[in-house]
Amino acid sequence: MTQSPTPIHETVREHYAGRIKNSASCCGPDRSCDTSSNIYPADLLTTVPTDVANTSYGCGDPITLASLKPGQTVLDLGSGAGLDCLLASQKVGPSGHVIGVDMTPEMIERAQANAKRVNAANVEFRQGYLEELPIDSNTVDVIISNCVINLSPDKEKVFTEAFRVLAPGGKLAVSDIVTEGPLPEVVKKSLSAWAGCVAGAVEADEYIGMMKAVGFTDISVKPVFFDKETVDAAFDDMKDVAATMGVTREDVYKAVYSAKITAYKPA
Ligand SMILES: C[S@@+](CC[C@H](N)C(=O)[O-])C[C@H]1O[C@@H](n2cnc3c(N)ncnc32)[C@H](O)[C@@H]1O
Repeated sequence: MTQSPTPIHETVREHYAGRIKNSASCCGPDRSCDTSSNIYPADLLTTVPTDVANTSYGCGDPITLASLKPGQTVLDLGSGAGLDCLLASQKVGPSGHVIGVDMTPEMIERAQANAKRVNAANVEFRQGYLEELPIDSNTVDVIISNCVINLSPDKEKVFTEAFRVLAPGGKLAVSDIVTEGPLPEVVKKSLSAWAGCVAGAVEADEYIGMMKAVGFTDISVKPVFFDKETVDAAFDDMKDVAATMGVTREDVYKAVYSAKITAYKPA
């Protein structure tokens, strides 16, 4: 079966194709920041050129969370411009292998160019959907992902696919946006807030429930920091509509967190 892009896929793809063309960083519409230096330990980033480190759209540090080892095969779900893949490639070394999957051709192109620039020979990028991964079953030791699963219109399918491709005993190490408490309806219905990593976010319990349902064990979802920049960027795009519904920025601040998520496929 072939995944057909939904209107959410199309909106998200256009959003991130536009971001990388303009080389603006982060989830939201107008962020031109170097968030990576606030998110990753400084010594991790010294190994990649600054402009590569700055084409990061993540909301956490899945590399540290993953505790990667030499020789491992790593898959990055929604690899964007490739920063996490490049960092992972150094951790797994020449005997390891890193695969980035992303649906946006412009991101794949940039990631391939970035890998070439730093001579990362053990990294490859494949265009595809997280809901139908172009990866063989039981072949991946560690899956990483950074601020992507919240963007999927079918998160349970993403977890089903992640579980399928992980080898027995494999680890999932993800940074993502989750909510504590429900989001206002007007935010959930906004496609631009979805593309900005806010509207598609689900409550931590729901996230855990989906992972459990497909077979993951030892699941941990820890909200770690309030992601003000992500909320601001997403809210700015929809603030007029929100105002007519009486929803304030602070209402959204209360709910949205960046979380550290780990889970395992039983051995
Ligand atoms: C917020 S950016 C994060 C990129 C990267 N992980 C980083 O930290 O810089 C989201 C990325 O996920 C990709 N993406 C979103 N939904 C996807 C899906 N359902 N299938 C494949 N790629 C997807 C987008 O194209 C975009 O490159």
